[in-house]
Amino acid sequence: MAKHKIAWLPGDGIGKDVLNAARVSLDALGLDAEYIHGDVGWEFWRKEGNPLPDRTIELLKRTDCCLFGAITSKPRDEAAMELAPELRDKGFVYFSPIVKLRQLFNLHTNMRPCRAFAGNPLNFRDDVDIVVFRENTEGLYSGVEFHPVPKDVMDAFVKHEPKSKRFASVPSDDLAVTVRLYTRKACRSIVTQSFEYAKKHNLKSVTVVEKPNVLRETGGLLVGEARKIAANYPGIELWETNIDAMCMWLVKNPQIYSVLCAGNMFGDIISDLAAQLVGGLGFASSANIGDDYALFEPTHGSAPKYVGMNKVNPMAALMSAKLMLEYLGEDTMAKTLEAAVARVIADGKVRTYDMGGSDKTTDVADEVARFCR
Ligand code: NAI
Ligand code: MG
Repeated sequence: MAKHKIAWLPGDGIGKDVLNAARVSLDALGLDAEYIHGDVGWEFWRKEGNPLPDRTIELLKRTDCCLFGAITSKPRDEAAMELAPELRDKGFVYFSPIVKLRQLFNLHTNMRPCRAFAGNPLNFRDDVDIVVFRENTEGLYSGVEFHPVPKDVMDAFVKHEPKSKRFASVPSDDLAVTVRLYTRKACRSIVTQSFEYAKKHNLKSVTVVEKPNVLRETGGLLVGEARKIAANYPGIELWETNIDAMCMWLVKNPQIYSVLCAGNMFGDIISDLAAQLVGGLGFASSANIGDDYALFEPTHGSAPKYVGMNKVNPMAALMSAKLMLEYLGEDTMAKTLEAAVARVIADGKVRTYDMGGSDKTTDVADEVARFCR
């Protein structure tokens, strides 16, 4: 029996290309794993009315972790029109498989390393080395939303918060509400993981990105917990920065930051910003980690315009595979893979179009794999 069981979910479009590339490196490294294919994405929405079939969920439950490619997603009404004719008007509603997986497997932590590799022509600066820890299941993305707003919900707002009175006379259909929910537990968890990471890697600061002066209750809870937890890590400074200022600082002085810690939405925003500092979508890897499961994925989507062209950059997927190797305890292989990626970028001989080259996805995959053997 193989040492590791990995759910293999390429999904749509270039998801297949980049996962194939990752596999070439994992095989070159000699990872002792069983890879089990799972169906996910647009094809299964159209054919079955479900982009995340139950059999795939069951598959994930039987594996140690998952490597995920990318999926195609469309707004609800557009999605409904693309259903197979016999499935139309049967009540199927499109949902995002990746958001659902995060919730189903309680993948509460999203970790996104943004390290500038030496020699990458796409670097904004060459000295950026940031890791974003984003809370992944709560906040503004909890899914608690109303439109129209039911009367008893509006009544409760008015009863408990006089400031909501100015909205009470708005017709319910002309008002939409999205609730930002933070639990103390999730706040403590994301902050603790940020500090533990800083400690393990000998980093000097953790920056909590919030807006507690305006979002007093949710922002206040996260920052308050961060202060308490920071007290247990005397060698690491806690920096508190507002989200708006953080966007400015990340452009002005990104090299002074090491660990950024944020709730779901602000974490989403700064992780895209930080990723672009080190080359953008072709380089942005991520880990979605829970207490007993984890899913690794490049953060880019299915890039429909490059489907079947063997053209996109596989580095984000390769670095996601590297995060998976760390999760599986295969630290030596993880280091070898990262060094191979760094080497190929620095050599500059084999490059996809986004880096100014004309090599194929498979060329880059083979070149990285050469340094993994
Ligand atoms: P996208 O990330 O698929 O592509 C945007 C553009 O970025 C591409 O056209 C390409 O120019 C560039 N790009 C992306 N990945 C690249 C790579 N590995 N190498 C080089 N260049 C790369 O985003 P887009 O076009 O907004 O969305 C396409 C589909 O993907 C949509 O259906 C969207 O809903 C879905 N999507 C899925 C995600 C996921 O699976 N987690 C995340 C983002 C979008
Ligand atoms: Mg995003």
